[in-house]
Amino acid sequence: MRNSATAFAPATVGNVGIGFDILGHTVEAIGDTVRVERSVRRGVRILAITGSEASLPLQTERNTAGMALKSLVESQNLDFGIDMTIEKGIPLGSGLGGSAASAVAAVVAGNALLEQPLTKLELLKFAMKGEAVASGSVHVDNIAPSLFGGLVLTVGIDHPRTKQIPVPPGLRCVLVHPHMFLSTREARRILSKTVELSDLVWQCANLAGFISACYTNDLDMIRDAFEDVVVEPQRQALIPGFKDVKRAAMSNGALGCSISGAGPTVFAWCEEAAAPTIVAAMAAQFALHKLGCDQWVSSIEPKGARVID
Ligand code: HSE
Repeated sequence: MRNSATAFAPATVGNVGIGFDILGHTVEAIGDTVRVERSVRRGVRILAITGSEASLPLQTERNTAGMALKSLVESQNLDFGIDMTIEKGIPLGSGLGGSAASAVAAVVAGNALLEQPLTKLELLKFAMKGEAVASGSVHVDNIAPSLFGGLVLTVGIDHPRTKQIPVPPGLRCVLVHPHMFLSTREARRILSKTVELSDLVWQCANLAGFISACYTNDLDMIRDAFEDVVVEPQRQALIPGFKDVKRAAMSNGALGCSISGAGPTVFAWCEEAAAPTIVAAMAAQFALHKLGCDQWVSSIEPKGARVID
């Protein structure tokens, strides 16, 4: 039986444009790491938070990782407590699934201390409890890919079912994170609660087309289907220069470009050879809007959260 464990959970692109709240994929380049240790003191304690966002709350119930692990621990009849330390590699409020990755890393690390570890599907619901602390609502488009890896579709909330969708080989995701904070709560609050029937039809066709194109390596179909007609038009005003950044990506050969999760990170899918040009063109547009950025080029691998130590 282990006394300690360390788990890594990758960042994620929520929604992937066309799959609001139900589709997401991993960004292997960055992630959060959680270390857990058995303690004689019952319950879950956060000893420290380090890395890019060390100012997050240490109180277990107010912290996404704390809440996720607490709900896992409370479902088990443990005769020990767990102390945790969180290392944030994902910037806060970036739209890269930072709260989800911390929650996922916490339950994966905690699970390694159990006498009878749970399956990833069983861990999903505990990680979801953590994510709810950060965004005020339960959605799985960051949690599920961070946990399972790759491009993941989730159906259902109370009894979620997940499916890893194959990504055509040689595709890359480029990401540009402008240095500004965008609250997920706020980016959700501004969304209209109703959708025009014609937009619903268009969005359903795009999501179905995108997924079937992923299964059949049909890059032209991915390009045609990669258009969010519901959420992106409402959120783009929250990101200075978004239209210019998207235009830069598309005119340099991207298959599609949209807002990562609730933003402000903007992502694009493209073929590997085009990735350096596209990411540079996108960052240059943010610079014209006086926003410095971080940038990444990532493969989309079916490799989710895992114990690393
Ligand atoms: N699907 C969510 C949203 C992701 O777009 O609001 C943010 O966590």
